[in-house]
Amino acid sequence: MTKTQQLIEELVKKYESLGENPDTYLKGLLHAKPINYWDYIEVETLLSLQKPRTDFKDEVVFIGYHQITELVLNLMIHELKQLMDTKLDEEMLIDKMQRLTRYTDMLITSFSVMKDGMSYEDYNVFRLTLTPASGFQSAQFRFLEIYCTQLGNLVNEQGQEGLPKNPSTEDYFEHIYWKNAGYNRKTGKKSYTLKEFENKYLDDFTDLANQVKGNTLHEQYLKMQVPSEALIKAMRDFDYNYNVSWPLTHLRTAQKYLNKKGENKAATGGSKWQKYLHPRHQQRSFFPSLWKEISILDWKEENV
Ligand code: HEM
Repeated sequence: MTKTQQLIEELVKKYESLGENPDTYLKGLLHAKPINYWDYIEVETLLSLQKPRTDFKDEVVFIGYHQITELVLNLMIHELKQLMDTKLDEEMLIDKMQRLTRYTDMLITSFSVMKDGMSYEDYNVFRLTLTPASGFQSAQFRFLEIYCTQLGNLVNEQGQEGLPKNPSTEDYFEHIYWKNAGYNRKTGKKSYTLKEFENKYLDDFTDLANQVKGNTLHEQYLKMQVPSEALIKAMRDFDYNYNVSWPLTHLRTAQKYLNKKGENKAATGGSKWQKYLHPRHQQRSFFPSLWKEISILDWKEENV
């Protein structure tokens, strides 16, 4: 029997096992058109999604680059979801960590498209049409961190002081670092950008946090008996790149457009961005147990 005959026989068996008539399916195959690249990749749909609100040419760059970031974040979350359902072994975890770092590196090295690839003057006009929207409202950034670590690691020193003794998921979200972008704890006033963001996503964040509780990446790591140096390095690399290098790259870009001449312009999301965006203020670390000897806080010395 030739290979082709063998394949046809396997196809016949496949449909028979489903209780279907194989002839119908094979005839269908005979007439079906082969798939094309543009259909498979959905190119036309993808290219129909950049809808600028002004005539400034660089607005398409701005929208397109944000969309690329969302696609990359989606791939990262795709990797993380797989880790929630499996008992992890070292090799698999190292492989996944390296994948996550690779994607984060893509986001860091390509960010010059934002920093150097747009006209300063044009950006500072078209960005005003986006108010009060802000990259701050990107939910995938928050979903990703919920998969990676316990909520307590997303609360900075100041926030820790406000937490009750046995915090609930809701308590953690009340004090999570990103609230500082738009919540004045003294007056209880929230920015519109933050209110809208919470209205849309806070329930989803809470549900996910409850679902992965005890099983986040950091907690899975803590259950490992004797983690290898290779694993520790892979986890530190991801933690540092995601929680220090990307935020600093992003902050430098904000400084270029909003504070180039010391003018300290207001951000579209209304945060006190110079302080809020700095890793020194956010103090985010997914895997703090890995930073006991060398500190992720080394960035404190960094001059930005
Ligand atoms: C010219 C380019 C950019 C500038 C000037 C800029 C500026 C800012 C500013 C000032 C904030 C503080 C929040 C606010 O008050 O609005 C912010 C937050 C944020 N932006 Fe951007 N941004 C830029 C590009 C991007 C891109 C391409 C992304 C990718 C999706 C992004 C994602 C974020 C995220 C996730 C936050 C929240 C950060 C956090 O909570 O730690 N930004 N951005």
